[in-house]
Amino acid sequence: MNKVFEEVKIGKITFKNSIIRSATHEGMCTEKGEPNEDLIKKFEQLAKGGAGAIITGFVGIMPNGNAPSKYMPMIDSDEKIDSFKKLVDRVHSYDTPIIMQIAHCGRQTRSKITGYPTVAPSPIKDKLYNEDRPHELTEDEIYEIIDNFVLGIERAKKAGFDGVELHAAHGYLLSSFLSPHMNKRKDKWGGSTENRFRIVKEILLRARERVEDYTIIAKINAYEKAKDGMNIEEAIKISKYLEEAKCDAIDVSCGIEEDGFWTLRGNFPFEMMAHDNHRIKKIPKSFRKIAKPFVKMQFESPKPYKLFNVPSAEKIKKEVNIPIIVVGGIRRLDEIKEIIENNKSDIVAMSKPFIIEPNIVNKFKEGKQEVSRCIDCNYCIIGIEERPLKCYYGKLPK
Ligand SMILES: Cc1cc2nc3c(=O)[nH]c(=O)nc-3n(C[C@H](O)[C@H](O)[C@H](O)COP(=O)(O)O)c2cc1C
Repeated sequence: MNKVFEEVKIGKITFKNSIIRSATHEGMCTEKGEPNEDLIKKFEQLAKGGAGAIITGFVGIMPNGNAPSKYMPMIDSDEKIDSFKKLVDRVHSYDTPIIMQIAHCGRQTRSKITGYPTVAPSPIKDKLYNEDRPHELTEDEIYEIIDNFVLGIERAKKAGFDGVELHAAHGYLLSSFLSPHMNKRKDKWGGSTENRFRIVKEILLRARERVEDYTIIAKINAYEKAKDGMNIEEAIKISKYLEEAKCDAIDVSCGIEEDGFWTLRGNFPFEMMAHDNHRIKKIPKSFRKIAKPFVKMQFESPKPYKLFNVPSAEKIKKEVNIPIIVVGGIRRLDEIKEIIENNKSDIVAMSKPFIIEPNIVNKFKEGKQEVSRCIDCNYCIIGIEERPLKCYYGKLPK
């Protein structure tokens, strides 16, 4: 059997193989933020389809950190635990581990949806969301957020999840503390790398007191577009701090929302944006053609479109002794084998390939297919603002 399809241990979890489903917001839950039957079925398909493990789309830990989607799951109260248990049990019936990704959206959300002002380490306006400057968090508010992350971890454990992933990437709240571009604080929560890392460290230390050796991983950015944003040297320092703070694995990604199509790459989906996106929809139809090059200039994907976090993951892996997960533009089995067998990363994660083919790992394993059918049209990410996750395969919804 190929090494890619052998079991791998991350913390206390045994992954069925090295190809896992990356966190992907599904937009499938009730307005209260509890998983609905569609979400359970989605995870069941992924589990049946051979994924080594499943990381859920981001789950909110407190109401002011909700996503700009009406259908973000929330683990913000004990009453929600049972609704998640049902989902976990279904996935476990296929012996597939499931990890809950927990998040606070910080400044990357819409106050109209959350009902609260956006918050951030520093009052720096986000260039994508048309919101006022975010509220600069006070120290008491930072501790309240830390407490809520810890509660989220405890609740995920009670619901039976095999572990949690702290979403500290893509510009959301924890990532905005880590990034010098978004964190200009002068107190103990900003400035040096150690200070910017403090919020994540406090979450990990406090969580360890409550859940002991429960598996906790962190998704971080290795680089961002802004000159003063995250870079690989900073990401290596943060990875070493994560290891010291007893984080079980590091998931390597890149980009924040205002960077445009950095985190996920490929086609610039202007037509889908004009169809679905709140801001583009406001531009009169006759002006849209004229607007396209300007919007494209700001938000287009940089090259390469494929394997764009592998070099960073490889560098981080050389500096720490905890497992590394890499995500971003991974589409071919031969490339996955090359990454795993040459020790560039311990695990690979994919998002879009699992949207079009939830059973892609079985297809790879059974030799039925070598490459994902995903065409990176990126309609899925735009479509998620309006309706549950699906693959549009480059076709506009009717
Ligand atoms: C529709 C959609 C929703 C996503 N939601 C999340 C999320 O909730 N949390 C997260 O960390 N990343 C999220 N991502 C990013 C992916 O996890 C991944 O980092 C990115 O898509 C690059 O991987 P890929 O090239 O395999 O798609 C999402 C991506 C897509 C397409």
